[in-house]
Amino acid sequence: MRVAVLASGNGSNLQALIDKLSADQHGVEFVRVVSDQPGARALERASAAGIPTAVITLADHPDRAARDAAIAAVLKQDEVDLVVLAGYMAILSPEFIAAFAGQIINVHPSLLPAYPGLRSIERALKAGEAETGVTVHHVDEGVDTGAVIAQEVVPIDPGESLDELTERVHAVEHQLLPTVVRNLSNLG
Ligand code: GRF
Repeated sequence: MRVAVLASGNGSNLQALIDKLSADQHGVEFVRVVSDQPGARALERASAAGIPTAVITLADHPDRAARDAAIAAVLKQDEVDLVVLAGYMAILSPEFIAAFAGQIINVHPSLLPAYPGLRSIERALKAGEAETGVTVHHVDEGVDTGAVIAQEVVPIDPGESLDELTERVHAVEHQLLPTVVRNLSNLG
């Protein structure tokens, strides 16, 4: 399964994918990492792992649709089977979603449909929730609205700080996302 990862920032989920799935017995090949942010640490992680990168910014294109068409062109050229959004902070155009229908997944730090969008861990903590978690889901045209593939609960400890909870949620992301990608590759 030829996999592309889209990432805007740190890329710790990308790193988890590389660390857990790069050995080829899983049948997963990371063929491209795309970022909309030239300074993204994710790009360094990709390069360190020998994965080709592309920086495709909004500033270099007339609009979002044109930017996403440029990303789609690269990924079609790469013959990508699965597009993984791992901390990709831009919303993809409907044309991009259609071009890779059923082949795009995202990791999100909440138990969707609860707390879609930004600052999900902080909002769950401040709301006094007893638990939050991680969701991996198909990507549709909405924000964190696609069909859920897998979820894992993270209980919130009384008095826990945002940093502590964030660290625990990320640790779960780093297990769940590679597991889902591995399972999808076994299905293919
Ligand atoms: C993760 O919490 C992910 O769920 C969310 O953005 C964050 C990205 O972190 N979509 P990283 O760049 O993978 O470290």
